[in-house]
Amino acid sequence: CGIVGYIGQNDTKEVLLNGLEKLEYRGYDSAGIAIENEQGVNLFKVKGRIAALREKVDHSVSSTMGIGHTRWATHGAPNEDNAHPHQSASGKFTIVHNGVIENYVDIRKEYLADVTLKSDTDTEIVVQLVEKMYEETQDTAQAFRKAVSLLTGSYALAMIDADDKETIYVAKNKSPLLVGIGEGFNVVASDAMATLRETDTYKEIRDKEIVIVRRDSVEIQLLDGTKVERDTFKTEIDAADTEKGTYDHFMLKETDEQPFVIRKIIQHYQDEAEQIKMEPAIRHAMVNADRIYIVAAGTSYNAGLVGKQFIENLAKIPVEVHIASEFAYNMPLLSEKPLFIFLSQSGETADSRAVLVKIKELGHPALTITNVPGSTLSREADFTLPLYAGPEIAVASTKAYTAQMAVMLLLAVDAAKGKEITLDFNPLQELAIVANAMEVLTDQKETFETLAQSYLSVSRNAFFIGRGVDYFVCVEGSLKLKEISYIQAEGFAGGELKHGTIALIEEGTPVIALATQSSLNHSIRGNVQEVNARGANTLLISMKGLEHDEDAFVIPAVHELLTPLASVVPLQLLAYYAAVQRGADVDKPRNLAKSVTVE
Ligand code: G6P
Repeated sequence: CGIVGYIGQNDTKEVLLNGLEKLEYRGYDSAGIAIENEQGVNLFKVKGRIAALREKVDHSVSSTMGIGHTRWATHGAPNEDNAHPHQSASGKFTIVHNGVIENYVDIRKEYLADVTLKSDTDTEIVVQLVEKMYEETQDTAQAFRKAVSLLTGSYALAMIDADDKETIYVAKNKSPLLVGIGEGFNVVASDAMATLRETDTYKEIRDKEIVIVRRDSVEIQLLDGTKVERDTFKTEIDAADTEKGTYDHFMLKETDEQPFVIRKIIQHYQDEAEQIKMEPAIRHAMVNADRIYIVAAGTSYNAGLVGKQFIENLAKIPVEVHIASEFAYNMPLLSEKPLFIFLSQSGETADSRAVLVKIKELGHPALTITNVPGSTLSREADFTLPLYAGPEIAVASTKAYTAQMAVMLLLAVDAAKGKEITLDFNPLQELAIVANAMEVLTDQKETFETLAQSYLSVSRNAFFIGRGVDYFVCVEGSLKLKEISYIQAEGFAGGELKHGTIALIEEGTPVIALATQSSLNHSIRGNVQEVNARGANTLLISMKGLEHDEDAFVIPAVHELLTPLASVVPLQLLAYYAAVQRGADVDKPRNLAKSVTVE
């Protein structure tokens, strides 16, 4: 979910609606705003997108303060009742919330047994609790502080009081939240991207802090009321990066940006002698580790699988890759000197953060590789390596995935150097070759549009097969296809299919095969024969130098270790066109959110 708040001189509706549009990547199944003026609080809520909310809002109501929310449902179905903002019984308090209140059942029992609730959400409990506390204290700030100190779980909260047009009450724990500073106005948002039109100056809010936001002041407090001083920082996000420009979809724009992202990574990670530039402390942590644990979710997990190949191959350090949500309660036996690498585009994924908190308690070192330096995972780890990919808006990750692989390659090469292992290739040069290959691939969009039409237009399912590192790219390719086109897709190790899954191959079943590894070229082609013999409609993508006449597509030659960075591009484009051809909402697939800040 995403929240935004504004208090100033201008029309709040526009600031809130624009801000929420920028936060739709965090969830988009229902939305709402509450705006306050002389007449009190006006509430507008819809099931659906911000565009629908824009239509529903009464634009004749003027107001210069308010709060808004876009939701990814956790507690309660995505409908209007459950949409935020939520109000207390008397209507005095109105709140928006991102996160999950873990003890809401206990709070309900202990403090709110006599209150009739209007929704199924954990959030309503919070606002009703504030009202209960207000009955005792008759002081909103105190009631808010008291209520917040009873909460366990994750929250970013913004609350307004119908009898006070001068204050937004804010609180944070585990869920991201920033306060933006302006002249005569201030804003609150889950992500600076929401309020870039208003300001580039922000204050970070830490866990268990409360903020009293007024038109001309921002006061940060601890839960006991002690004031906290905090410097401002300027965000480096360019507002233009958050616009689609001439593209139909962010996903296509971001797929196209990949060559530039790789070049940017080369630039940022290169010193004057054209060697890899890496913090000595990071090299030290890598070299000292007896085992590396990569922890991630979704596409980042898939990038981690490739990262393992890089680190084991080049730096000769054993690596395990773990799904964050599993690791949190099913921790493997750890080695004596582990190093944790958190891969996270957003740096906010709650599943990954839960692991980070746990391993920090155990005293282990952690490195976060993220597109958002300053994000929670970045702040809480010992080291951060930025991806320099620019904002990724489409829910389906493209450029962040390739950037993660590129940065892990450089990390692996640098660690190899630290261990005095001689490598026979220049990674920066090889990455430059990859960037060129990516450009050749993104220039051939029409080819992929046609291939998607002929292979994926009617089928309900599809298989991706590859061996070695191609297998990992197949897992990512299948995730791309299923998340945006809703075709059921699975990535398989080429040799494993015959042990069960081949039973699903029928006449015409699409199978997309990757062949980019010389030592595996023969065997993957054998697996293709096996599925073809059962009627599969196989689209084989090979690499220059390994191609056969019958291959559907040949990617330009790149270093064999780096093929995932190039071979994923055709799979991203196939998924994109398959989704477009099916009329799917490419940038905002159903049920998903880009940044999942609940466990
Ligand atoms: C969400 C997104 C995925 C993403 C995953 C991990 O589920 O829908 O696309 O891969 O989170 O996100 P992160 O920001 O940690 O890389």
